[in-house]
Amino acid sequence: MMTNSKVADKSVRPGAVLSSYPSLRGRAVFVTGGATGIGAAIVGAFAAQGAKVAFIDVAEAAAARLAQELAEAGHTPPWWRVCDVRDIAALQAAVTEAGAALGDFAALVNNVASDDRHTLESVTPAYYDERMAINERPAFFAIQAVVPGMRRLGFGSVINLGSTGWQTKGGAYPCYAIAKSSVNGLTRGLATALGKDRIRINTVSPGWVMTERQIALWLDAEGERELQRNQCLPDRLQPGDIARMVLFLASDDAAMCTAQEFKVDAGWS
Ligand SMILES: NC(=O)c1ccc[n+]([C@@H]2O[C@H](COP(=O)([O-])OP(=O)(O)OC[C@H]3O[C@@H](n4cnc5c(N)ncnc54)[C@H](O)[C@@H]3O)[C@@H](O)[C@H]2O)c1
Repeated sequence: MMTNSKVADKSVRPGAVLSSYPSLRGRAVFVTGGATGIGAAIVGAFAAQGAKVAFIDVAEAAAARLAQELAEAGHTPPWWRVCDVRDIAALQAAVTEAGAALGDFAALVNNVASDDRHTLESVTPAYYDERMAINERPAFFAIQAVVPGMRRLGFGSVINLGSTGWQTKGGAYPCYAIAKSSVNGLTRGLATALGKDRIRINTVSPGWVMTERQIALWLDAEGERELQRNQCLPDRLQPGDIARMVLFLASDDAAMCTAQEFKVDAGWS
């Protein structure tokens, strides 16, 4: 499985035997925020399954690097564009353009987010709206854009990235917590309407995942102690651990899974 760096994927642990999904081969998949972190692992994981991947991100250099690494690894190069998801028209235009290039999307992964820290006192109405514009609103409108294609296909899988952070009362980002807690509402609120057309929708909620950004910005000695205290499993969660749950939910193996939250948190919550 690819990540966005040349560093070996630490989610592939010694002795592990991983699944592959023939049903994903040749399928078109759209990922938001796919240039770095968990999104990049998801993009790489789908590419390694032979899927046709499209992704958008604001991080242009990282996106270009990921596309090049995937091509060098022998995978079909992903379709990608610089797109700020706060601009819903641009997000929906990217879905349309990518769909014209790759075909109707069989899977959508709503991954984009920003967990910047803030306090109750510091938040202005403008900052609040901006947090929602990244962490809450894009998923709904990305779904709106892909569903007509899924209806044409006769099936589809929408995977919304939630979080266990608000569930374990992580307190450093109340607006992010509000937005992330709404992901289960999005999943459950659309599951019945989409299910009639065999379009499945699920939440994948990661625990604390050791992306380069998390390690650089937030992981300190107290964080290490917290991980040790709260996780049931000793290993650190890696982006690839989340990507593998996403692959399963996108595949035909998950044909009867919808409206649910799947946690990948090493047992913390
Ligand atoms: N890393 C964790 O520990 C963790 C824990 C719980 C949940 N999650 C969830 O998993 C998902 C991925 O997490 P991550 O840690 O890789 O996130 P991240 O913040 O590291 O990366 C998200 C990606 O989105 C991009 N992005 C940010 N703002 C954007 C914008 N306005 N328009 C377009 N792209 C933008 C970034 O450039 C980045 O590539 C998120 O939904 C997050 O909430 C992560």
